[in-house]
Amino acid sequence: MISKQKIYSCKVCGAQYPKWLGQCAKCGSWNSVEEDIIKKGSKNDLVQSKSEVKKISEIKSLENERIKFSDDEFNRVLGGGLVRGSVVLISGEPGIGKSTILLQNSINSPESVLYVSGEESAEQLKLRAERISENPKNCYVLTETNLELILKNINKIKPGIIVLDSVQTVQTDLFDNSPGSTTQIKECTSILIKLAKNIGLPILIVGHITKDGNIAGPKILEHMVDTVLHFEGDKQHQFRILRSKKNRFGSTNEIGIYEMDQSGLKTVANPSELFVSKKQNTEPGSAIAVTLDGDRSIMIEIQALVSSAVYGTPQRISNGFNSKRLNMLLAILEKKAGFKIGVKDVFINITGGIKIEDTAIDVAVVSAILSSNINVSVTSGTCFCAEIDLSGELRSVNNIDKRISEAERLGYKKIIVSNNSKIGYTPKSIQTVKLKNLSQVVKEIFREKD
Ligand code: TYD
Ligand code: MG
Repeated sequence: MISKQKIYSCKVCGAQYPKWLGQCAKCGSWNSVEEDIIKKGSKNDLVQSKSEVKKISEIKSLENERIKFSDDEFNRVLGGGLVRGSVVLISGEPGIGKSTILLQNSINSPESVLYVSGEESAEQLKLRAERISENPKNCYVLTETNLELILKNINKIKPGIIVLDSVQTVQTDLFDNSPGSTTQIKECTSILIKLAKNIGLPILIVGHITKDGNIAGPKILEHMVDTVLHFEGDKQHQFRILRSKKNRFGSTNEIGIYEMDQSGLKTVANPSELFVSKKQNTEPGSAIAVTLDGDRSIMIEIQALVSSAVYGTPQRISNGFNSKRLNMLLAILEKKAGFKIGVKDVFINITGGIKIEDTAIDVAVVSAILSSNINVSVTSGTCFCAEIDLSGELRSVNNIDKRISEAERLGYKKIIVSNNSKIGYTPKSIQTVKLKNLSQVVKEIFREKD
């Protein structure tokens, strides 16, 4: 029997109420509760459950069951390949390349793929596929938004992998709500998860994000799926980072770095070369830092420009670096190293458009500022890796060995670290200089320039 019931559900957490509320009692969000009509049908008819009791020793291990794509970065972020029966959600801003990365991997996939698109027509997908690869192999395309029809086609074709672009466009007949509503997103995903687990079919789902960077739809969507990958980058720049935010089958420290060009996304084997404009930084106002993103160490270049303030209030503008942290570093410079930059404009830019949260680049930021302020370049071949605390002392950072070895690999001659750093690695061609505080840094980097 089918019955219709009017309820109210929160679009943030998915909580349901019999009446409208201004504030969700569960997650506390304001104005997030919306009317939902639920038509209760027999949901279980769509996908039959196949659960049975088994001994843990009888269960097959998943490790051999991973599907490996030709794209190594994608495999790495997934934790070593796509696990059969897993559901992966890929989020990112519009136009960042979610459809491109999935179509690219579908075309070159070792297993047959059904690419379901509710966003583009088959002709548009064909155009995109031609841009990416000359001989698309194992990939079927379906432009459909009705979940029942999608399931029917999955049954007919029996593909090895499903791609759904995007979860906000699918709709099941069991509910009257429009696609993209809390109920539709939640219910369609739960049906797909059931299907994935039942027949061991991996499903990759695209999820749009809201203005504030969260996945649009109920928050529980992230709890329901096995893996959440976030695709990010600066649309003005070529590079993109695929980051693992949740992974039931691997580490969340993995990142994949890509470059977007006219024929799709290319993996970047050597990211440090992408972010450092020239190794021998001879211009004043530039300093090189070793940062760690996930498990990978990357060299980045920080550029600073210090000039006399034209207006009464000096400007502090930062691109890629937290501006509150910049203000803090400027205050430390003024107080602890005696530099009068309170009346100067300070601009900071991290080249390549990458955004860095890692505090290990503090010393490099300060050095770039000092270098621009006195118009003397930092000795070439020198790089930095330490945090600065409020007293102007250098603090050690995590994974120092990995960072030093990356600087050495790229031919740097000297790396400045904190004197508290515990270094287990014995470098051959790079000198590690352990310093205590900011004044020692100033002396060290401009020493040969006097
Ligand atoms: P797309 O994958 O459609 O983004 P999303 O699905 O996340 O919204 O990416 C589209 C952008 O990528 C678009 O601005 C064009 C660009 N692009 C290239 O630069 N080269 C290419 O080969 C392709 C296919 C897209
Ligand atoms: Mg898209």
